[in-house]
Amino acid sequence: MSVKISVEINEPKFKNDIYDMIQAFYPVLEYAEEGGERMTVDCFERDGRYIVTVDFAGKRREGGLETTDFPSDLIKMRLYKRSAKITVYETLSDYTGIALPYGSLTGIRPTKLYYELLSDGVNVKDEMVGKLYVSERKFDLIERIIQTQKGIYSFGDGYDAFANIPVCPTRCAYCSFISETYDHAKKRLADYADNLARDISTQFDFGLGRRRAIYVGGGTPTSIDDGDLDKILRAFKACGEEFTVEAGRPETFTESKAKILKENGVTRISVNPQTFKQSTLDLIGRKHSVEDIFKAYELANKYGFDVNMDLIAMLPDESVEDFKASVDKAIELSPANITVHTLSVKRGSVFNMDGLKSGAQNDAYKMVDYSFDALIKAGYSPYYTYRQKNTFGRLENVGYAKKGKTCVYNVDIMEETHTVHASGAGAISKTVTVEDNEGVKNVRIERLSEIKEIKGYNEHIEELIAKKRIFFDKQIKI
Ligand SMILES: C[S@@+](CC[C@H](N)C(=O)[O-])C[C@H]1O[C@@H](n2cnc3c(N)ncnc32)[C@H](O)[C@@H]1O
Ligand code: SF4
Repeated sequence: MSVKISVEINEPKFKNDIYDMIQAFYPVLEYAEEGGERMTVDCFERDGRYIVTVDFAGKRREGGLETTDFPSDLIKMRLYKRSAKITVYETLSDYTGIALPYGSLTGIRPTKLYYELLSDGVNVKDEMVGKLYVSERKFDLIERIIQTQKGIYSFGDGYDAFANIPVCPTRCAYCSFISETYDHAKKRLADYADNLARDISTQFDFGLGRRRAIYVGGGTPTSIDDGDLDKILRAFKACGEEFTVEAGRPETFTESKAKILKENGVTRISVNPQTFKQSTLDLIGRKHSVEDIFKAYELANKYGFDVNMDLIAMLPDESVEDFKASVDKAIELSPANITVHTLSVKRGSVFNMDGLKSGAQNDAYKMVDYSFDALIKAGYSPYYTYRQKNTFGRLENVGYAKKGKTCVYNVDIMEETHTVHASGAGAISKTVTVEDNEGVKNVRIERLSEIKEIKGYNEHIEELIAKKRIFFDKQIKI
C-alpha cells in the first residue's frame, strides 16, 4: 500500500532535496497535489536567525541557525538548505521512529561533503554524526574511503578520458542506463566506431596535461564487433596508464575480445555477476549462465587484467541469504575490485516498489552491512561511494579494492576533482577549475553533454566535435 503525502514549501530551491528525504522514509510514496498527509515547510530570516518550521501530522517543529557574515551567498544557501533538511529529518524521524543510515543527507556524494567540512575546519564527526544524523556505521564507511583515497585524491593535475559505447546484448530488467540492444544498433555501429574514434582523438588537441586514466563504459562495450572495438580503443593511444573497459556481460568477453583489449593497453575490466543465483539472472533478463561468469573471469586472469565484479543487493526474489552467498562467492574468486550496488527502482519499472513485502528496507540494511563486514574481513577496502535515488533507505553503492588496486578513474569521477574528456553518445565532458575567491576556495565545474542516442550522434558528429572544441578551448584559456 502506498503512502500519500503532499508538501508545500516556500523555498522552491529546497524542494527536490526535501522530496528525496521523504522518499527515503517512505519507499512506497505517492506525492499528492492534495489529500493524504500534508507537510508545510516555511523558511525565513528574522532577528538574526534563519528559521525553519515544519508542520506535519498535527505538530509543529522549529529549527534553524544564527545568521552571520557568510563567506559567500553560495555557502549561505548551502547552510540554509542543510538546516531545512535537518528540521524535516527530525520531524519524520520522530513521527516514524526510523533513523535513516545517512540521516539528513540527500546528496549523491557523502565523501564530497566530508572533504568540504574538513576544509571548513570543523570537526567532521561532530557535524556529520552529531548534527546531520549520519549513523556511526556510515560515518565509519566514509572515513575508511577518505583513508583509501589518500595519494589519489587531488585537484587539477591532468585529466581523465572516457568513451561511451551504449550497446548491450539484451536489456536487463532493472537497468536505468540509456543503452540500445546490439540488434537495434547494429546497422549504425560501423559509422559509430569511426565517429567515436575521431571524437576521442580530439583530446590530444587541447593541452589537457597528463592523462590519469581511461575508461570505456556503456552499456557493454565488448558487445560490439571486434573491428569496431579495436578502432575505438586504438584512438586512445594508451601509454601504460590505468585503462578500464567494461565487459560487464560475461558472455560478450571472448578470447578475440581479450586479445584486442590487451593489444590496446587495457589494464582493467569489469565482469559483472550482479548475482550468482541462476534463477535471478534469468528473471532479470541477463541471458547468461553462472558458468559464463566463471569462464569470463578465468579468461580475464589468463590475460592478466585486473577485474572488477559488480553485485546488486535487493534484486527481486532474493533473500538476505541469497545475497550473502553471492558476496561470499565473489570474495572466493578474489578479483581486484568488488562493487556492491543497492537496487535503485525507477518509477513504473518492472520491479515497482509497491509489490514489495514489508521489511524490505531492513533486508536491504542487512545485505549492505553484510557486504561491508565480509569484504573488510577479506582484506578489501572501500574506496568510493555514491548514493543513487530510489534505493531502499537511500543506501549507497560502494566500490571495494584490494590493496594497491584502487581505480583512479572512479575516485576522480566521484569526487569531481578532474577534467574529463568524454566522447560518444550520452557522454558528458567536464572541466574542473579551482578558483581562489578572496581566500575562499571555489571549485567551478562546467559540463558539456553529447546527444544521447547513437543515431543522433552519428548524424550530428561535425557539430558535436565543433562544440567540444569551443568548450575545451574556452576552459583552457580561462
Ligand atoms: C552502467 S552499468 C554497466 C555495467 C554492465 N553493462 C553490466 O550490466 O554488467 C554499471 C552497474 O550499475 C549497476 N546497476 C545498473 N542498474 C542498476 C539499478 N537499477 N540499481 C542498482 N544498480 C544498478 C549494475 O551493477 C551494473 O553493473
Ligand atoms: S548489460 Fe548493463 S548497461 Fe546493459 S542493460 Fe544490462 S545492466 Fe544495463
